[in-house]
Amino acid sequence: MKKIIAFAGSNSKKSINKKLVLFATSLLNDVSVTVLDLNDFNLPLYGVDNENEHKIPSDAHKFLNLIKESDGIVLSLAEHNGAYTVAFKNLFDWLSRIESKLFFNKPMLLMATSPGARGGASVLDIAKNRFPYHNANIVETFSLPFFANHFNEGKITNTDFLEQLNKSINKFTKSL
Ligand SMILES: Cc1cc2nc3c(=O)[nH]c(=O)nc-3n(C[C@H](O)[C@H](O)[C@H](O)COP(=O)(O)O)c2cc1C
Repeated sequence: MKKIIAFAGSNSKKSINKKLVLFATSLLNDVSVTVLDLNDFNLPLYGVDNENEHKIPSDAHKFLNLIKESDGIVLSLAEHNGAYTVAFKNLFDWLSRIESKLFFNKPMLLMATSPGARGGASVLDIAKNRFPYHNANIVETFSLPFFANHFNEGKITNTDFLEQLNKSINKFTKSL
């Protein structure tokens, strides 16, 4: 069975992106899904001095290995001031110090959601442009705007967005 890792680019305990990740992965059939939480990885704020003094934290190696051993990645990025959250950027920077091509060509479903009209479109654009330099294989992207209006009790309630996500899930599944 194919192994998928899924996580949100957020360290919020109430992360709406994690909720979207959980729903999206519930639509996947015949795969084994491991949902990761950035809070479970002990990563100090990246800095060259910290790296020189303390070396790369073991949890960065652990996360990178989880990517390496997976067959695909489901990631939903939270947007802070038009960009990655500090928590995601910190993880990204640490991983890139071990291996620049840190996505290992694994098929990726890349998503974002936010409470606003753009649904995290800015951070999604940043990731779409940048991740390929790190050997990301972005199969599909999906953005859910106005999260509170379109998501309830663990599910997308808007039929158009639900159809869009189902199509993305199908394409992602075929790419595994
Ligand atoms: C510091 C900060 C900056 C934010 N900037 C944006 C933004 O640029 N665009 C946006 O759509 N939402 C922005 N938001 C709102 C987030 O999208 C919202 O908090 C969302 O719940 C974050 O996703 P998460 O719950 O998965 O962490 C911001 C929130 C914070 C705390």
